[in-house]
Amino acid sequence: MRGVGVARIAVTRRIDDDSLSILAGAGEVVRWDDDLPPDRDHLIALLDGADAALTLLTDRIDADLLDRCPSLRVVSNLAVGYDNIDVAACTAREVAACTTPNVLTQTTAEFAIALLMAVARQVVPAARAAREGEWKTWYPFRFLGRDLAGATFGIVGLGRIGAAVAEMATGLGMRVVYSGGSETDRYPRIALATLLSTADVVSLHVPATPATHHLIDARALGLMKSDAILLNTSRGTVIDSDALVAALDAGRLFGVGLDVTDPEPLPPDHPLYRFDRVTIVPHIASATLTTRKRMSALAAENIVAVLAGTEPPHCLNPEVLQHA
Ligand code: DGY
Repeated sequence: MRGVGVARIAVTRRIDDDSLSILAGAGEVVRWDDDLPPDRDHLIALLDGADAALTLLTDRIDADLLDRCPSLRVVSNLAVGYDNIDVAACTAREVAACTTPNVLTQTTAEFAIALLMAVARQVVPAARAAREGEWKTWYPFRFLGRDLAGATFGIVGLGRIGAAVAEMATGLGMRVVYSGGSETDRYPRIALATLLSTADVVSLHVPATPATHHLIDARALGLMKSDAILLNTSRGTVIDSDALVAALDAGRLFGVGLDVTDPEPLPPDHPLYRFDRVTIVPHIASATLTTRKRMSALAAENIVAVLAGTEPPHCLNPEVLQHA
């Protein structure tokens, strides 16, 4: 709607009706009506002529796409992460880039703890064994886990979600240390190398940036205690998957919990699936109905506000709004 008329709002996946209603109040909604994402050509065709796009982290919003969809004024990601969006390219073209932080913090933190419990107590291999007829008696020394009370929990990236996980880990009687993120006196801040070599659990909560790409590589894995637990609920690219497979093959690590992987989705023949002590789930840390509805409503509210010329709840490049 750079000119006059009804705004066109593109939604790149099936989302809930409540959020669609919010959007419908601000313009004509066109939807990609599938559970799988549009490929590049279909994405561009959907966004071509649109004033606003409600996108997912699987949609790459880069300079090329923005040049081919010049009517866009706002891109609102249904996610707190935005590594799929080139924010500088948006800013250069006066496109507002928006996200959905805060509403998923607690849910995502709870899931990090769920992964921790699953890995520490071998929940997934034990449940599989029971289902597959391997439960013949009470085994005194089978499916043995790790105690968590008193263990050292290392948070890499003390942002909103990292801080919420730290609170929960403290409640479980763990000693929290952290590296990177916001300053706090609540927990000791230590160098990453020290954290890796001393923590019993290492939990990753950093965004995907060039600086965090393969932060956990062969060297970092080599520093970790050989019976440590590694958890990733941030972005898959933070871990070098090949290096992780090599470390596991060498018998290192008690277990690993991955909500995110590289590549994503992880193909069914990927070597990481070979290890019983690795629990892999398909990027579901924020997946509760309440939270996903809050996220999509917030993504919609960002769009409505930008189209109305008011301040959106969460804009990454608010300087664009001043120009508008
Ligand atoms: C996000 O919001 O960035 C998550 O990865 C999905 O909840």
